[in-house]
Amino acid sequence: MTVTTSASRAARLLSRPIALGGLTVPNRIVMAPMTRMFSPGGIPGEDVRSYYARRAAAGVGLIVTEGTYVGHDSAGQSDRVPRFHGEEQLAGWAKVAEDVHAAGGTIVPQLWHIGMVRQQGEAPYPEAPAVGPSGLVTAGAEPTGKAMTQRDLDEVVGAFAQAAADAERIGFDGVELHGAHGYLLDQFLWDGTNRRTDAYGGDPVARTKFAAEIVAAVREKVSPDFPILFRYSQWKQQDYTARLAETPEELEAILSPLAAAGVDVFHASTRRYWLPEFEDSDLNLAGWTKKLTGKQVISVGSVGLDGDFVKAFQGEGSAVKNIDNLLDRLEDEEFDMVAVGRALLQDPEWAAKVLADRFDELKPYDAAALKTLS
Ligand SMILES: Cc1cc2nc3c(=O)[nH]c(=O)nc-3n(C[C@H](O)[C@H](O)[C@H](O)COP(=O)(O)O)c2cc1C
Repeated sequence: MTVTTSASRAARLLSRPIALGGLTVPNRIVMAPMTRMFSPGGIPGEDVRSYYARRAAAGVGLIVTEGTYVGHDSAGQSDRVPRFHGEEQLAGWAKVAEDVHAAGGTIVPQLWHIGMVRQQGEAPYPEAPAVGPSGLVTAGAEPTGKAMTQRDLDEVVGAFAQAAADAERIGFDGVELHGAHGYLLDQFLWDGTNRRTDAYGGDPVARTKFAAEIVAAVREKVSPDFPILFRYSQWKQQDYTARLAETPEELEAILSPLAAAGVDVFHASTRRYWLPEFEDSDLNLAGWTKKLTGKQVISVGSVGLDGDFVKAFQGEGSAVKNIDNLLDRLEDEEFDMVAVGRALLQDPEWAAKVLADRFDELKPYDAAALKTLS
Protein backbone atom coordinates (compact mmCIF):
# COMPACT_ATOMS: atom_id res chain seq x y z
CA MET A 1 0.00 0.00 0.00
CA THR A 2 1.45 3.37 -0.98
CA VAL A 3 -0.16 6.39 0.55
CA THR A 4 2.12 9.19 -0.47
CA THR A 5 -0.24 12.09 -0.91
CA SER A 6 1.46 15.26 0.14
CA ALA A 7 -0.06 16.48 3.30
CA SER A 8 -0.72 20.16 3.05
CA ARG A 9 -1.79 19.87 -0.56
CA ALA A 10 -4.83 17.72 0.24
CA ALA A 11 -5.94 20.07 2.99
CA ARG A 12 -5.40 23.12 0.82
CA LEU A 13 -7.32 21.80 -2.19
CA LEU A 14 -10.13 20.01 -0.40
CA SER A 15 -10.88 22.43 2.40
CA ARG A 16 -11.85 25.38 0.21
CA PRO A 17 -15.51 26.43 0.61
CA ILE A 18 -17.64 26.61 -2.53
CA ALA A 19 -20.91 28.37 -3.37
CA LEU A 20 -23.50 26.28 -5.21
CA GLY A 21 -26.29 28.70 -6.05
CA GLY A 22 -27.21 30.30 -2.75
CA LEU A 23 -25.61 27.53 -0.72
CA THR A 24 -22.12 27.72 0.69
CA VAL A 25 -20.60 24.29 1.21
CA PRO A 26 -17.73 24.35 3.71
CA ASN A 27 -15.39 22.17 1.64
CA ARG A 28 -15.07 20.07 -1.51
CA ILE A 29 -15.86 16.66 -0.03
CA VAL A 30 -19.25 15.16 -0.94
CA MET A 31 -20.76 11.97 0.42
CA ALA A 32 -21.96 9.99 -2.59
CA PRO A 33 -25.57 8.80 -2.52
CA MET A 34 -25.75 5.24 -1.25
CA THR A 35 -28.92 3.20 -0.88
CA ARG A 36 -28.85 1.57 2.54
CA MET A 37 -32.37 0.20 3.10
CA PHE A 38 -32.49 0.96 6.79
CA SER A 39 -35.76 2.92 6.71
CA PRO A 40 -38.70 0.57 7.45
CA GLY A 41 -41.93 2.01 6.11
CA GLY A 42 -39.83 4.46 4.12
CA ILE A 43 -39.20 6.48 7.30
CA PRO A 44 -35.62 7.48 8.11
CA GLY A 45 -35.18 7.06 11.84
CA GLU A 46 -32.69 7.80 14.58
CA ASP A 47 -30.02 5.47 13.16
CA VAL A 48 -30.19 7.12 9.74
CA ARG A 49 -29.89 10.56 11.37
CA SER A 50 -26.78 9.67 13.30
CA TYR A 51 -25.26 7.85 10.29
CA TYR A 52 -25.36 11.06 8.24
CA ALA A 53 -24.63 13.46 11.12
CA ARG A 54 -21.54 11.49 12.08
CA ARG A 55 -20.08 12.03 8.63
CA ALA A 56 -20.98 15.72 8.60
CA ALA A 57 -19.34 16.17 12.00
CA ALA A 58 -16.21 14.49 10.64
CA GLY A 59 -15.73 16.91 7.78
CA VAL A 60 -18.00 15.93 4.87
CA GLY A 61 -19.01 19.27 3.36
CA LEU A 62 -22.05 18.08 1.41
CA ILE A 63 -24.09 14.94 1.92
CA VAL A 64 -26.12 13.57 -0.95
CA THR A 65 -28.54 11.19 0.71
CA GLU A 66 -29.29 7.72 -0.51
CA GLY A 67 -31.86 7.61 -3.32
CA THR A 68 -35.29 8.39 -1.86
CA TYR A 69 -38.51 7.73 -3.75
CA VAL A 70 -40.63 10.58 -5.06
CA GLY A 71 -44.38 10.43 -4.42
CA HIS A 72 -45.71 8.27 -7.22
CA ASP A 73 -46.92 4.69 -6.94
CA SER A 74 -44.47 3.58 -9.62
CA ALA A 75 -41.41 5.27 -8.04
CA GLY A 76 -40.03 2.30 -6.14
CA GLN A 77 -40.77 -1.04 -4.60
CA SER A 78 -38.82 -1.45 -1.44
CA ASP A 79 -40.38 -0.87 1.95
CA ARG A 80 -36.93 -0.20 3.40
CA VAL A 81 -35.80 2.52 1.01
CA PRO A 82 -36.72 5.91 2.46
CA ARG A 83 -39.53 7.81 0.77
CA PHE A 84 -39.60 11.53 0.16
CA HIS A 85 -43.35 11.89 0.57
CA GLY A 86 -45.82 11.31 3.37
CA GLU A 87 -46.01 13.04 6.72
CA GLU A 88 -43.96 10.63 8.82
CA GLN A 89 -41.38 10.13 6.12
CA LEU A 90 -40.81 13.87 5.66
CA ALA A 91 -40.77 14.43 9.42
CA GLY A 92 -37.99 11.81 9.60
CA TRP A 93 -36.09 13.56 6.84
CA ALA A 94 -36.49 16.98 8.48
CA LYS A 95 -34.68 15.62 11.53
CA VAL A 96 -31.91 14.20 9.36
CA ALA A 97 -31.36 17.65 7.82
CA GLU A 98 -31.47 19.30 11.25
CA ASP A 99 -28.85 16.94 12.66
CA VAL A 100 -26.54 17.33 9.67
CA HIS A 101 -26.77 21.11 9.98
CA ALA A 102 -26.09 20.95 13.70
CA ALA A 103 -22.96 18.96 12.87
CA GLY A 104 -21.77 21.69 10.48
CA GLY A 105 -22.63 20.00 7.18
CA THR A 106 -25.00 20.58 4.28
CA ILE A 107 -27.37 18.03 2.77
CA VAL A 108 -29.48 17.38 -0.32
CA PRO A 109 -31.82 14.43 -0.88
CA GLN A 110 -31.31 12.31 -3.98
CA LEU A 111 -34.76 12.13 -5.59
CA TRP A 112 -35.32 8.77 -7.25
CA HIS A 113 -37.69 6.88 -9.51
CA ILE A 114 -36.56 3.38 -10.44
CA GLY A 115 -38.64 3.08 -13.63
CA MET A 116 -38.36 -0.40 -15.10
CA VAL A 117 -35.69 -1.70 -12.73
CA ARG A 118 -37.01 -4.31 -10.31
CA GLN A 119 -35.31 -4.81 -6.99
CA GLN A 120 -34.66 -8.30 -5.84
CA GLY A 121 -34.21 -10.13 -2.64
CA GLU A 122 -35.69 -7.92 0.05
CA ALA A 123 -39.41 -8.62 0.16
CA PRO A 124 -42.04 -7.59 1.05
CA TYR A 125 -42.55 -5.13 -1.76
CA PRO A 126 -45.60 -3.03 -2.17
CA GLU A 127 -46.66 -3.69 -5.74
CA ALA A 128 -45.22 -0.90 -7.84
CA PRO A 129 -46.07 -0.86 -11.52
CA ALA A 130 -43.02 -1.19 -13.80
CA VAL A 131 -43.08 1.81 -16.10
CA GLY A 132 -40.57 3.40 -18.42
CA PRO A 133 -40.20 5.10 -21.76
CA SER A 134 -40.88 1.88 -23.68
CA GLY A 135 -41.46 -0.77 -21.03
CA LEU A 136 -37.94 -2.15 -21.54
CA VAL A 137 -35.61 -2.92 -18.67
CA THR A 138 -32.52 -2.98 -20.88
CA ALA A 139 -31.40 -2.80 -24.49
CA GLY A 140 -32.72 -5.64 -26.60
CA ALA A 141 -35.16 -6.85 -23.93
CA GLU A 142 -38.78 -7.77 -24.54
CA PRO A 143 -41.18 -5.30 -22.92
CA THR A 144 -41.94 -6.29 -19.33
CA GLY A 145 -43.63 -3.08 -18.27
CA LYS A 146 -45.73 -0.23 -19.46
CA ALA A 147 -44.64 2.52 -21.83
CA MET A 148 -45.54 5.71 -20.02
CA THR A 149 -48.44 7.77 -21.32
CA GLN A 150 -48.39 11.58 -21.39
CA ARG A 151 -50.43 11.48 -18.22
CA ASP A 152 -47.88 9.23 -16.50
CA LEU A 153 -45.09 11.57 -17.57
CA ASP A 154 -46.90 14.64 -16.27
CA GLU A 155 -47.61 12.94 -12.96
CA VAL A 156 -43.99 11.93 -12.46
CA VAL A 157 -42.77 15.41 -13.37
CA GLY A 158 -45.18 16.72 -10.74
CA ALA A 159 -43.92 14.20 -8.17
CA PHE A 160 -40.31 15.33 -8.59
CA ALA A 161 -41.32 18.99 -8.38
CA GLN A 162 -43.36 18.36 -5.25
CA ALA A 163 -40.49 16.47 -3.61
CA ALA A 164 -38.12 19.35 -4.37
CA ALA A 165 -40.54 21.88 -2.93
CA ASP A 166 -40.87 19.70 0.17
CA ALA A 167 -37.08 19.43 0.42
CA GLU A 168 -36.79 23.20 0.59
CA ARG A 169 -39.71 23.52 2.99
CA ILE A 170 -38.32 21.00 5.50
CA GLY A 171 -34.84 22.47 5.56
CA PHE A 172 -32.70 20.74 2.95
CA ASP A 173 -30.05 22.75 1.13
CA GLY A 174 -30.86 21.68 -2.43
CA VAL A 175 -31.87 18.56 -4.32
CA GLU A 176 -30.11 16.01 -6.46
CA LEU A 177 -32.13 14.44 -9.29
CA HIS A 178 -31.14 10.82 -9.92
CA GLY A 179 -30.64 10.74 -13.67
CA ALA A 180 -28.03 7.98 -13.59
CA HIS A 181 -27.39 4.23 -13.55
CA GLY A 182 -30.26 3.00 -15.71
CA TYR A 183 -33.16 4.20 -13.55
CA LEU A 184 -36.18 6.08 -14.92
CA LEU A 185 -34.61 9.34 -16.09
CA ASP A 186 -31.66 7.48 -17.55
CA GLN A 187 -34.02 5.02 -19.27
CA PHE A 188 -35.22 8.03 -21.25
CA LEU A 189 -31.70 9.34 -21.93
CA TRP A 190 -30.44 5.94 -23.15
CA ASP A 191 -31.48 4.83 -26.63
CA GLY A 192 -31.22 1.20 -25.47
CA THR A 193 -34.37 1.63 -23.35
CA ASN A 194 -36.00 4.60 -25.08
CA ARG A 195 -37.58 3.44 -28.34
CA ARG A 196 -40.32 6.06 -28.37
CA THR A 197 -41.38 7.70 -31.57
CA ASP A 198 -43.08 10.71 -29.95
CA ALA A 199 -41.40 13.93 -28.76
CA TYR A 200 -39.64 12.05 -25.91
CA GLY A 201 -37.69 9.65 -28.12
CA GLY A 202 -35.34 9.80 -31.07
CA ASP A 203 -32.23 11.96 -31.05
CA PRO A 204 -30.32 12.83 -27.85
CA VAL A 205 -32.15 16.13 -27.41
CA ALA A 206 -35.55 14.42 -27.65
CA ARG A 207 -34.45 11.72 -25.22
CA THR A 208 -33.46 14.47 -22.78
CA LYS A 209 -36.87 16.15 -22.96
CA PHE A 210 -38.39 14.26 -20.02
CA ALA A 211 -35.46 14.91 -17.68
CA ALA A 212 -35.32 18.54 -18.78
CA GLU A 213 -39.05 18.92 -18.04
CA ILE A 214 -38.41 17.59 -14.54
CA VAL A 215 -35.55 20.04 -14.02
CA ALA A 216 -37.68 22.94 -15.25
CA ALA A 217 -40.61 21.93 -13.04
CA VAL A 218 -38.32 21.67 -10.02
CA ARG A 219 -36.75 25.02 -10.83
CA GLU A 220 -40.17 26.60 -10.90
CA LYS A 221 -41.19 25.17 -7.52
CA VAL A 222 -38.10 26.13 -5.52
CA SER A 223 -36.34 29.42 -4.80
CA PRO A 224 -34.14 30.70 -7.63
CA ASP A 225 -30.94 30.14 -5.65
CA PHE A 226 -31.90 26.68 -4.30
CA PRO A 227 -29.32 24.44 -5.97
CA ILE A 228 -30.40 21.68 -8.32
CA LEU A 229 -27.86 18.90 -8.79
CA PHE A 230 -28.28 16.38 -11.59
CA ARG A 231 -26.52 13.01 -11.44
CA TYR A 232 -25.95 11.12 -14.64
CA SER A 233 -23.72 8.32 -15.88
CA GLN A 234 -22.65 6.54 -19.00
CA TRP A 235 -22.89 3.12 -17.29
CA LYS A 236 -26.16 1.44 -16.39
CA GLN A 237 -26.69 -1.07 -13.64
CA GLN A 238 -28.28 -3.19 -16.40
CA ASP A 239 -25.12 -2.86 -18.53
CA TYR A 240 -21.86 -1.51 -17.16
CA THR A 241 -20.44 -1.01 -20.66
CA ALA A 242 -23.36 1.06 -21.98
CA ARG A 243 -22.72 4.63 -23.05
CA LEU A 244 -25.07 7.54 -23.48
CA ALA A 245 -22.60 9.47 -25.56
CA GLU A 246 -19.75 8.25 -27.74
CA THR A 247 -18.45 11.74 -28.46
CA PRO A 248 -18.27 15.11 -26.70
CA GLU A 249 -20.79 16.41 -29.25
CA GLU A 250 -23.33 13.76 -28.25
CA LEU A 251 -22.70 14.50 -24.60
CA GLU A 252 -23.22 18.20 -25.17
CA ALA A 253 -26.55 17.49 -26.89
CA ILE A 254 -27.75 15.78 -23.71
CA LEU A 255 -26.31 18.15 -21.14
CA SER A 256 -27.18 21.49 -22.76
CA PRO A 257 -30.97 21.19 -22.41
CA LEU A 258 -30.53 20.12 -18.80
CA ALA A 259 -28.30 23.09 -18.07
CA ALA A 260 -30.74 25.41 -19.83
CA ALA A 261 -33.63 24.00 -17.79
CA GLY A 262 -31.93 24.98 -14.53
CA VAL A 263 -29.30 22.48 -13.39
CA ASP A 264 -26.68 24.21 -11.23
CA VAL A 265 -24.32 21.30 -10.64
CA PHE A 266 -23.73 18.11 -12.60
CA HIS A 267 -22.65 14.99 -10.73
CA ALA A 268 -20.91 12.83 -13.33
CA SER A 269 -20.97 9.28 -12.05
CA THR A 270 -18.07 7.08 -13.10
CA ARG A 271 -16.58 3.99 -11.52
CA ARG A 272 -12.96 5.20 -11.70
CA TYR A 273 -12.33 8.94 -11.75
CA TRP A 274 -8.89 8.63 -13.34
CA LEU A 275 -10.13 7.19 -16.65
CA PRO A 276 -10.35 9.50 -19.69
CA GLU A 277 -13.87 9.66 -21.14
CA PHE A 278 -13.13 10.29 -24.81
CA GLU A 279 -10.09 9.92 -27.05
CA ASP A 280 -7.35 12.54 -27.29
CA SER A 281 -7.89 14.03 -23.84
CA ASP A 282 -7.21 13.09 -20.23
CA LEU A 283 -10.44 14.70 -19.07
CA ASN A 284 -12.78 12.38 -17.20
CA LEU A 285 -16.56 12.55 -17.54
CA ALA A 286 -16.83 15.31 -14.94
CA GLY A 287 -14.08 17.25 -16.70
CA TRP A 288 -15.88 17.04 -20.01
CA THR A 289 -19.13 18.04 -18.34
CA LYS A 290 -17.56 21.18 -16.94
CA LYS A 291 -15.91 22.01 -20.24
CA LEU A 292 -19.11 21.50 -22.25
CA THR A 293 -21.61 23.19 -19.92
CA GLY A 294 -19.57 25.65 -17.87
CA LYS A 295 -21.48 24.38 -14.82
CA GLN A 296 -19.96 23.24 -11.56
CA VAL A 297 -19.29 19.51 -11.42
CA ILE A 298 -18.74 16.71 -8.95
CA SER A 299 -16.48 13.80 -9.83
CA VAL A 300 -16.78 10.36 -8.26
CA GLY A 301 -15.53 6.81 -8.58
CA SER A 302 -13.08 4.86 -6.45
CA VAL A 303 -11.77 7.88 -4.57
CA GLY A 304 -9.26 6.57 -2.05
CA LEU A 305 -9.73 2.96 -3.17
CA ASP A 306 -8.18 0.80 -5.86
CA GLY A 307 -11.14 -1.45 -6.78
CA ASP A 308 -14.38 -0.19 -8.25
CA PHE A 309 -17.72 -0.38 -6.48
CA VAL A 310 -19.34 -3.05 -8.65
CA LYS A 311 -17.35 -5.67 -6.81
CA ALA A 312 -18.64 -4.31 -3.51
CA PHE A 313 -21.99 -5.91 -4.28
CA GLN A 314 -20.25 -9.23 -4.84
CA GLY A 315 -18.77 -9.03 -1.39
CA GLU A 316 -15.32 -7.82 -2.43
CA GLY A 317 -13.28 -5.36 -0.43
CA SER A 318 -10.77 -2.85 -1.73
CA ALA A 319 -7.35 -1.61 -0.69
CA VAL A 320 -6.55 2.03 0.02
CA LYS A 321 -5.16 4.02 -2.91
CA ASN A 322 -3.56 7.43 -2.70
CA ILE A 323 -5.43 10.47 -4.00
CA ASP A 324 -2.52 12.22 -5.75
CA ASN A 325 -4.13 12.02 -9.17
CA LEU A 326 -7.41 13.30 -7.76
CA LEU A 327 -5.66 16.32 -6.28
CA ASP A 328 -3.84 17.00 -9.55
CA ARG A 329 -7.18 17.13 -11.32
CA LEU A 330 -8.74 19.30 -8.62
CA GLU A 331 -5.79 21.65 -8.84
CA ASP A 332 -6.24 21.83 -12.62
CA GLU A 333 -9.90 22.72 -12.00
CA GLU A 334 -11.04 19.76 -14.06
CA PHE A 335 -13.88 19.45 -11.54
CA ASP A 336 -15.01 21.33 -8.44
CA MET A 337 -15.89 18.70 -5.86
CA VAL A 338 -15.26 15.02 -5.22
CA ALA A 339 -17.81 12.51 -4.03
CA VAL A 340 -16.75 9.57 -1.92
CA GLY A 341 -18.82 6.41 -1.62
CA ARG A 342 -17.46 3.22 -0.10
CA ALA A 343 -14.52 4.83 1.68
CA LEU A 344 -17.01 6.95 3.65
CA LEU A 345 -19.32 4.04 4.19
CA GLN A 346 -16.44 2.15 5.72
CA ASP A 347 -15.07 5.00 7.76
CA PRO A 348 -17.17 7.93 9.00
CA GLU A 349 -13.90 9.74 9.77
CA TRP A 350 -12.52 9.52 6.23
CA ALA A 351 -12.90 13.24 5.49
CA ALA A 352 -11.45 14.35 8.82
CA LYS A 353 -8.43 12.10 8.29
CA VAL A 354 -7.80 13.36 4.76
CA LEU A 355 -8.25 17.01 5.73
CA ALA A 356 -5.80 16.56 8.61
CA ASP A 357 -3.23 14.63 6.54
CA ARG A 358 -3.77 11.43 8.53
CA PHE A 359 -3.46 9.26 5.40
CA ASP A 360 -1.85 6.37 7.20
CA GLU A 361 -5.05 5.95 9.22
CA LEU A 362 -7.28 5.36 6.18
CA LYS A 363 -8.96 1.98 6.19
CA PRO A 364 -9.40 -0.50 3.36
CA TYR A 365 -12.99 -1.09 2.33
CA ASP A 366 -14.59 -4.27 3.65
CA ALA A 367 -17.91 -5.33 2.09
CA ALA A 368 -19.20 -6.12 5.59
CA ALA A 369 -19.72 -2.34 5.89
CA LEU A 370 -22.81 -2.74 3.70
CA LYS A 371 -24.57 -4.59 6.48
CA THR A 372 -24.58 -1.90 9.14
CA LEU A 373 -25.33 1.79 9.45
CA SER A 374 -22.38 2.57 11.67
C1 LIG B 1 -24.10 0.40 -1.25
C2 LIG B 1 -24.17 1.36 -2.40
C3 LIG B 1 -25.38 1.96 -2.69
C4 LIG B 1 -25.47 2.89 -3.73
N1 LIG B 1 -26.66 3.55 -3.95
C5 LIG B 1 -26.71 4.58 -4.84
C6 LIG B 1 -27.87 5.42 -4.93
O1 LIG B 1 -28.85 5.29 -4.19
N2 LIG B 1 -27.83 6.42 -5.85
C7 LIG B 1 -26.78 6.62 -6.68
O2 LIG B 1 -26.80 7.53 -7.52
N3 LIG B 1 -25.65 5.85 -6.58
C8 LIG B 1 -25.58 4.86 -5.68
N4 LIG B 1 -24.42 4.14 -5.53
C9 LIG B 1 -23.22 4.54 -6.28
C10 LIG B 1 -22.38 5.50 -5.44
O3 LIG B 1 -23.01 6.74 -5.25
C11 LIG B 1 -21.00 5.78 -6.08
O4 LIG B 1 -21.19 6.43 -7.32
C12 LIG B 1 -20.19 4.52 -6.30
O5 LIG B 1 -20.18 3.74 -5.11
C13 LIG B 1 -18.75 4.85 -6.69
O6 LIG B 1 -18.11 5.54 -5.65
P1 LIG B 1 -17.02 4.79 -4.71
O7 LIG B 1 -16.09 4.11 -5.65
O8 LIG B 1 -16.38 5.91 -3.95
O9 LIG B 1 -17.75 3.81 -3.86
C14 LIG B 1 -24.32 3.19 -4.52
C15 LIG B 1 -23.11 2.54 -4.22
C16 LIG B 1 -23.02 1.66 -3.17
C17 LIG B 1 -21.69 1.02 -2.86
